[in-house]
Amino acid sequence: MTRKITLAVALIIATVTTSRADEGMWLPSLIGSRIADMQEKGFKLDAEDIYSINQASLKDAVVLFGGGCTGEIVSEAGLLLTNHHCGYRQIQSHSSVEHDYLRDGFWAMNRSEELPNKGLTVKFLERMEDVTGIILKGCDESRNEDERTKLIDENSKKIIEQATAEGNGLRASVEALYYGNQYYLFIYREYSDIRLVGAPPSSIGKFGGDTDNWMWPRHTGDFSIFRIYADKDNNPAPYSPDNVPYRPKKFFKISTGGVHEGDFTFIYGFPGSTQEYIHSEAVRYIGEVSDPQKIKLRTIRLGILKKHMDSSQKIRIQYSSKYASISNAWKKWQGEELGLRRNRIVAKKAQYEKKFAQWAEGSSYSGLCDSLASLYKTIEPYRFAGELYNETARTVELASYASRISRCFSKKDGNVTFDKDAAGEIASAFFKDYCPDIDKECFIAMMEEFAESIPEDFMPEYYKRMILKYGSVAAWADEIFSTSAFLDENFIASLSECDIEKAEDDIIMDFYNGFLKWYSKEIRPSVERINARIFDLNKEYMKGQMEYSEAVSDGRAFYPDANLTLRVAYGHVKGYSPADGIYYVTSSTIKGIIQKDDPNIFDYNIPQSLRDIYASKDYGKWAGESGEIPVCFLADNHTTGGNSGSPVINCNGDLIGINFDRVWEGTMSDIAFDPERCRNISLDVRYLLFTIEKIGNASWLFDEMVFVD
Ligand code: ARG
Ligand code: GLU
Repeated sequence: MTRKITLAVALIIATVTTSRADEGMWLPSLIGSRIADMQEKGFKLDAEDIYSINQASLKDAVVLFGGGCTGEIVSEAGLLLTNHHCGYRQIQSHSSVEHDYLRDGFWAMNRSEELPNKGLTVKFLERMEDVTGIILKGCDESRNEDERTKLIDENSKKIIEQATAEGNGLRASVEALYYGNQYYLFIYREYSDIRLVGAPPSSIGKFGGDTDNWMWPRHTGDFSIFRIYADKDNNPAPYSPDNVPYRPKKFFKISTGGVHEGDFTFIYGFPGSTQEYIHSEAVRYIGEVSDPQKIKLRTIRLGILKKHMDSSQKIRIQYSSKYASISNAWKKWQGEELGLRRNRIVAKKAQYEKKFAQWAEGSSYSGLCDSLASLYKTIEPYRFAGELYNETARTVELASYASRISRCFSKKDGNVTFDKDAAGEIASAFFKDYCPDIDKECFIAMMEEFAESIPEDFMPEYYKRMILKYGSVAAWADEIFSTSAFLDENFIASLSECDIEKAEDDIIMDFYNGFLKWYSKEIRPSVERINARIFDLNKEYMKGQMEYSEAVSDGRAFYPDANLTLRVAYGHVKGYSPADGIYYVTSSTIKGIIQKDDPNIFDYNIPQSLRDIYASKDYGKWAGESGEIPVCFLADNHTTGGNSGSPVINCNGDLIGINFDRVWEGTMSDIAFDPERCRNISLDVRYLLFTIEKIGNASWLFDEMVFVD
């Protein structure tokens, strides 16, 4: 009990302290404790303008877009902006050879031309609430770990049911903050009739591709435009031609006044995951073991993909999206590893832990850091094996395809059914973008790497058996990639419910299951068991870090790790020095696009119309002070994956940009934020407006937007 009180005090004290840097992802409902700092840094609105349950506030103009991006509302008719890479799947799904919207862009010329999207939803946060007391009710020391977990689940389920009883698109979740020291209830309203309104050609929306990804200077017009539809009463409804544009409680006005070094910026969005408070051992594992291993494996795979993509136009198209997703994390990890090393995060954390341990002596926190260290050492080989499995066996395309097909069979009371339509869809999507030569080459490389890296006593029996049987990985691959029935596109059409064995006994399913059984029996149980223990200790450690901070008055500001819940990050438009002797200025312009333009390089081949506009300087009213069109800008807002598409807001609460990336030298901000080098990258809203008007000829959209200078 006394401890609980101390924690509450620690939380309050910690959050009113002025943070030294622009670090932090703050809970909107508690933004009152940051507002003085925000205002001191230039913000002109109040806490109630950011988050309120009594009046419309900025939170009502921000949505969780799909499963992992952010979007913002910019008109009273539900017009929504997000990134091109967030809407990519939808843009692709409407594309065909006759009209390739990825290549050429898509622009509805009126509302009736807007395209509905199956499966896409957006969620507005209605409200959030501290429910720690209710969730932890009955969770006292008299119960063991399992009982407590069960109770927490039950308590959560109950409030979620209550919170969503009204129906009407209400969704709710209970999330642990500070490793379960607090629990919050989040109540959302979910809309499911979301239509595509516009997207630039990829040569603008994905300009620079994977080469420029995570980099500055950046020139990507990474946006797409959607509209939310609702029923006549403004309620969520599935797609219907009778639906009408959603009328939001709040939408962002668009500032065309420009972006300048030092300007206050504020990002409102759904950051996915960070680990700012972990033990040095956990950081060491990430920076010295996990990242390097994963980078090495992906370097090999990317090399194989690239070789094939360079040799064939068809393969380049088939594998470009796969290449992008493999390379995205690959590049991010390189920055993370470098950042952790360069900033000596492990050593600094270890030093902190030493002081913490001294302070903790004789208290309930005594020995905590040592216990954590030893648990992290115990879990390491299991975690490593799991990650190795993920990056090798689980990347075999044919195996994941076959497993998805076999899930179209279902067994009930001895009866087998087969969802042939679903299987057919999976198959046609798979074969459209599949090259068995690439898959086989990756299989061989990844299986060899697996054997090389897996600790002796973790080696799966299955693997050893296969090598014994075939003599080598290459021979094993030869057998799989010449005999698996799944390689035949017509295999699915020939299947019926009687053929479940044909599918389940196929050689590639044998491979899939051989590894899966090993992982589920020998690796996962240990990972889960030790992780649960680590989570519990981290709960204590988190509390301890707050109390320690209070005791030594170090002014450290605590904010809960990101968990895909709505957060506020504020900071300034700011350049940085990536290395000695180099300084990156805050903004890029269309001039840089022209400098990079090269018709012979796919990622840098811009539309002819953009070249013409540049030559004639036909910029409309969107040029900046330099006379050029501003394209992207840097700021030091603390963001992470999930913040893609987030509104970037100025001191008046108006929209100046859309967040879409970070610089790779600063991606260790998921673990340790460095104000010197951590920068987010945003699209300047003026480039978006320019593109809508001059490339899309869709300035009818301006009629519903509200502009301020
Ligand atoms: N790095 C950004 C993010 O993590 C953008 C990724 C999409 N762009 C790309 N070129 N792969 O999502
Ligand atoms: N591009 C990332 C996303 O999709 C944002 C970049 C990052 O900050 O990790 O959320």
